[in-house]
Amino acid sequence: MPYSSLIALSQLSSQQIQDLFLSAETIQKEPAHISISKGTAALIFFEPSTRTRMSFEMAAVQEGFYPVRFDGANGTSLEKGETLEDTLLNIAAMKPQMMVIRSGAELDFHQLQKKVNIPIINAGWGAYGHPSQALLDMFTITREFSDFKKIKLLILGDIKHSRVASSHVELAKILGHKLAFCGPSFLTENSQGIERFHKLDEALKWANIVMPLRVQHERHQEKMNLADYISDYGLTKNKLAQASKDLMILHPGPVNHGVEIDSEVYFDSRSRILLQVENGIYIRRAIIRKLIQASRGLPNQEQKAGII
Ligand code: CP
Repeated sequence: MPYSSLIALSQLSSQQIQDLFLSAETIQKEPAHISISKGTAALIFFEPSTRTRMSFEMAAVQEGFYPVRFDGANGTSLEKGETLEDTLLNIAAMKPQMMVIRSGAELDFHQLQKKVNIPIINAGWGAYGHPSQALLDMFTITREFSDFKKIKLLILGDIKHSRVASSHVELAKILGHKLAFCGPSFLTENSQGIERFHKLDEALKWANIVMPLRVQHERHQEKMNLADYISDYGLTKNKLAQASKDLMILHPGPVNHGVEIDSEVYFDSRSRILLQVENGIYIRRAIIRKLIQASRGLPNQEQKAGII
């Protein structure tokens, strides 16, 4: 690739991910200083987003890039039938310093990369992956678990439609920590060789970190029985009684309160859900910093090692 991008975590080695975490840790300690002088960041979101979009926008500003936003089809030439790829090629022709893209599976990020000489950052692509989310989840975990061998991450619920779960599968292969899924069969098929629990009580006894996922009703072909789902897999204070008292609770958001997680659990002292959001800024700044260094040919450790 002529310019480095972050499309999938399988591009990275364990050392590169740990370097990224070190960079995020350094960024967290840097004094706030904003000077938008390095160019523009095109934030192109064909699908809805709150956290990722605002987080990348803040990260871009804090790294010195003016964010130019494309939010959904409304008011754009997509409404006149322009294709997603044409839209992106035209935005690339305006020469932003990076393109941060969220889209459904209909776009092919790898094909796009062959046509544009600008770093592409995957901000959520179909069910293929959401690399920055998995990285910020793992950054949050490693603030409290320094030994990857001790991590037992349980992802709970709608695995089938989750780009976050897909990126966690890639991450576990690279970092070597334990990962398991729990949920009903129709939401945990295609689990790609990952350990699978169907009973939540057994899964919670196994895990030291649990991350329920939003039930993505909008992507389901058939209506599910929500009452059964909540009864079997909804994370409640009562069900947590069977888990370790040190269990870390994560959620990538957005949350369906009272479905995959109760509000009581969301606000439990073991919950790191809003800390994930804070950490998202540091991780996304670190990603932007490293990609821009690499694309500008600036010497850095990661580039010498042939990284992102
Ligand atoms: N976690 C996440 O991707 O949230 P948004 O859809 O709000 O960006």
